[in-house]
Amino acid sequence: MKGIVLAGGTGSRLYPLTQVMCKQLLPVYDKPMICYPVATLMLLGIRDILIITTPEDVDPLKAYLKDGSHLGVNFSYEVQEEPRGIAEAFILGEDFIGDDSVTLILGDNIFHSPSLFKQIDLKKFQSQDGCQLFSYRVKDPERFGVLGFDKEGKVTSITEKPEHPKSNYAVVGLYAYSNDVVEKAKHLKPSNRGELEITDLNNQYLQESRVVNYAMPRGSAWFDAGTPRSLLAASQYVATTDMYQGLKISAPEEIALFKGYITRSQFEQHIASVKSCEYTEYLRGIAHEA
Ligand code: TTP
Repeated sequence: MKGIVLAGGTGSRLYPLTQVMCKQLLPVYDKPMICYPVATLMLLGIRDILIITTPEDVDPLKAYLKDGSHLGVNFSYEVQEEPRGIAEAFILGEDFIGDDSVTLILGDNIFHSPSLFKQIDLKKFQSQDGCQLFSYRVKDPERFGVLGFDKEGKVTSITEKPEHPKSNYAVVGLYAYSNDVVEKAKHLKPSNRGELEITDLNNQYLQESRVVNYAMPRGSAWFDAGTPRSLLAASQYVATTDMYQGLKISAPEEIALFKGYITRSQFEQHIASVKSCEYTEYLRGIAHEA
């Protein structure tokens, strides 16, 4: 399975921060935002990752993430000239996806759900037919794409920003598809706001009864860090775990080591190449503990 991080967009809700820096490189507590979606893909066993971003932001993102070899993954880069919608990722990523299945994650979505990621059977996840959605219980479903369910808990509807939501479960920015997503994306028509909508794509799979939903369990965290308030909330969440448990959330180097994507000596070499600081001391400590 291939992975795509969609890290373009305009970031207008984070103006003026995004006037000086790409949204996905803004700090979420102790690391750039892009670390979090990359870490989520790595936890899902995905090591071939395409970063899609704007013409201006591709160089800064490349300068930070490089080719991914230090994490035992492979990063490629693609430019989206204009923010023409989330579903355009599958058209831009067609060659990269090839004959594979693909998971798309939004570059400003932050997940923390150790129980969910342990629970998922990765072999099944990577070969599942159709569309796999993740949903999160929210207090204010009117603001999101919301799932409706039948008595057995099967998804029956996906509605964008409903006036009368059928549940409290919002669809979050992590979606997995079988290979036919590319053809489906190519046939999408732009919406009234001129974008290729991911909800339209998901609704096609729903009509074909090919949707699986993973409801994130109680105790999980999900943030769309696209506003000043949610960016702060995400930072505070990550900082709290760090300060009180001494554990970092979504440190890609740590995941690379524990998933076996890099050897201990590659890990140590990488740390040695960076000036010693709290982050490198943490990595040293956690590797030693293991
Ligand atoms: P949004 O937060 O919906 O859009 P945005 O980042 O442009 O921000 P704003 O609404 O404040 O102007 O996008 C969610 C994620 O998807 C974000 O990481 C940017 C990315 N994205 C693209 O890369 N291309 C697109 O065409 C769209 C719509 C989003």
